[in-house]
Amino acid sequence: MHVLVTGGAGFIGSNFVHHLAEHTDARVTVLDKLTYAASRASLDGLPPGRVALVVGDVADAETVDPLVAAADVVVHFAAESHNDNSLHDPSPFVHTNLVGTYTLLEAVRQHGTRLHHVSTDEVYGDLELDDPARFTESTPYDPSSPYSSTKAGSDLLVRAWVRSFAVAATISNCSNNYGPWQHIEKFIPRQITNLIDGRRPRLYGEGRNVRDWIHTSDHSAAVWTIVQHGRPGETYLVGADGERSNREVVEAILRIMGRSEDDYDLVADRPGHDLRYAIDSTKLRTELGWSPSFTDFEEGLAATLQWYRDHEAWWRPHKDAVEAAYARSGQ
Ligand code: NAD
Ligand code: DAU
Repeated sequence: MHVLVTGGAGFIGSNFVHHLAEHTDARVTVLDKLTYAASRASLDGLPPGRVALVVGDVADAETVDPLVAAADVVVHFAAESHNDNSLHDPSPFVHTNLVGTYTLLEAVRQHGTRLHHVSTDEVYGDLELDDPARFTESTPYDPSSPYSSTKAGSDLLVRAWVRSFAVAATISNCSNNYGPWQHIEKFIPRQITNLIDGRRPRLYGEGRNVRDWIHTSDHSAAVWTIVQHGRPGETYLVGADGERSNREVVEAILRIMGRSEDDYDLVADRPGHDLRYAIDSTKLRTELGWSPSFTDFEEGLAATLQWYRDHEAWWRPHKDAVEAAYARSGQ
């Protein structure tokens, strides 16, 4: 099988490519624009005969069309992914997340290629902190930020192409990922690298917002399960029952590092900050038999922390610029 992976040099995409290399005999072509969020190093150590990188834009039909024509299946990770960036400049989010997905859909329609579209639980908006409800596949869309609204729009494009043109596509909406190769602009690696640097962790608002954490290798396994066994036209929610407040996550990181649990700063809140996400992944578990391997969040967090200690050369060149950008927003 020949798999085209868009965004395969980013955090989740590169972990997925390693998953394919280790657990399948698929041949992989990565299409990635190599934006600030990408890393060639994340693709190091892969078998060169089986994995190739094409540098290009998923919104460029001339680049995309021949790659889709040559593939048996397309797994679409490419996106602008950071909410805070989308509040400063939504334009690349509209380009990549909407125009990019449209461009890919036209190519898979033309060539009859199977597509899996990787999306987020943020399309459903947020839940109250004390609401026992969780998101399911039938929760209405209600996105909050420029990032999540462009992801919601991309999902709706996929649904329309399935219904109108019988494109064979599935969609997954996953909760917050953590693990190796995540950009240090994101919450967990930012706090880990702050502490390695002797800076205090920075919690937005009062740190009460809740996210539902999943190790990225469990997300990879879920996506591959859906590619193999998912029913075209269906949506599957991916989550590992990992709800934690941001404050609880920071306290856990501080504990693992042998620091006092209140050794953090509260900083300016994110405008429009979603309160809580929570995934009910019953459909994926019962219909397709997927379940997460990382069931102990603190164990996964400790391994991730060690990974950032071991890969300082990878993130160090970006740390000062990331912190300077946050400082401009009082964060
Ligand atoms: P990331 O920002 O780490 O990586 C995105 C990758 O896409 C980068 O390699 C980047 O170079 C590439 N890219 C961006 N614009 C492109 C373009 N125009 N053409 C080709 N490549 C382009 O993102 P991530 O966290 O790995 O997220 C991957 C996907 O998973 C996204 O679709 C995101 O919405 C979704 N998702 C992420 C999470 C999470 O917790 N990070 C959770 C659920 C879903
Ligand atoms: O839910 C899935 C989504 O998870 C994905 O679709 C997104 O691509 C991914 O970036 C992530 O979005 P979040 O906005 O939840 O992730 P982020 O890492 O930016 O922030 C996690 C939480 O931590 C959020 O409540 C904001 C807060 N935060 C973030 C940073 C960077 C802080 O309190 N301090 C920080 O320094």
